[in-house]
Amino acid sequence: MSELLSAPLFAQAQGVVPLDRDPALAQLASDCQACRRCSLGASRLNVVVSRGNPRARLMVIGEGPGAQEDELGQPFVGRSGQLLDLMLESVGIHSNRDAYVCNIVKCRPPENRKPTALEMAACRPWLDQQIALVDPQVILLAGATAVEGLLGIKGGITKLRGQWRQGEGGSLEGRWLMPIFHPSYLLRNPSKERGAPKWLTWHDLQDVQRRLVQLQGPS
Ligand code: URA
Repeated sequence: MSELLSAPLFAQAQGVVPLDRDPALAQLASDCQACRRCSLGASRLNVVVSRGNPRARLMVIGEGPGAQEDELGQPFVGRSGQLLDLMLESVGIHSNRDAYVCNIVKCRPPENRKPTALEMAACRPWLDQQIALVDPQVILLAGATAVEGLLGIKGGITKLRGQWRQGEGGSLEGRWLMPIFHPSYLLRNPSKERGAPKWLTWHDLQDVQRRLVQLQGPS
């Protein structure tokens, strides 16, 4: 962040609409604070709704908040979030300026377990609202749970990653979807060698950047 500007002024200078200035998303965030649609509401410290730019053409969806996210109330701010940010930056995408970042479930599952199908289904209407309001052209799905939660497709992320899908129906209609390895998996598999998960993810992210440029058309 700039040392000369406060956070809101810095965001403005970057062309980012602060999340709390978008009335519909601010309303959604406040509705989420009161949510008790599943039992995760009882153990959370904070509801983790989103960070980033509500006008972004790219949405990043992860699995669910971890301990740090639960404490700070922001998605992807722990170690895996830092890696995600670095990898996005390496292809010219600044996560807070060029993306809107959120999760399949908005409350931390105890012990960082995978959210259950019921929890994902209970949280889905919030996610559908976010997608409709932000209206991203491209959605990056970080990890197998994000793919399962959004598309209902269960399977190894190794097979699913790197393959474009086109959303069909509901909030996904017409959007481009790209599954990638979850950054926490990349933290456990740090090799950057050709063909390693990190190398593949970097290529997937380059593909995403190319798609965003392509969709933007001539300026
Ligand atoms: N992992 C996720 O999937 N989401 C977060 O917000 C943090 C870690």
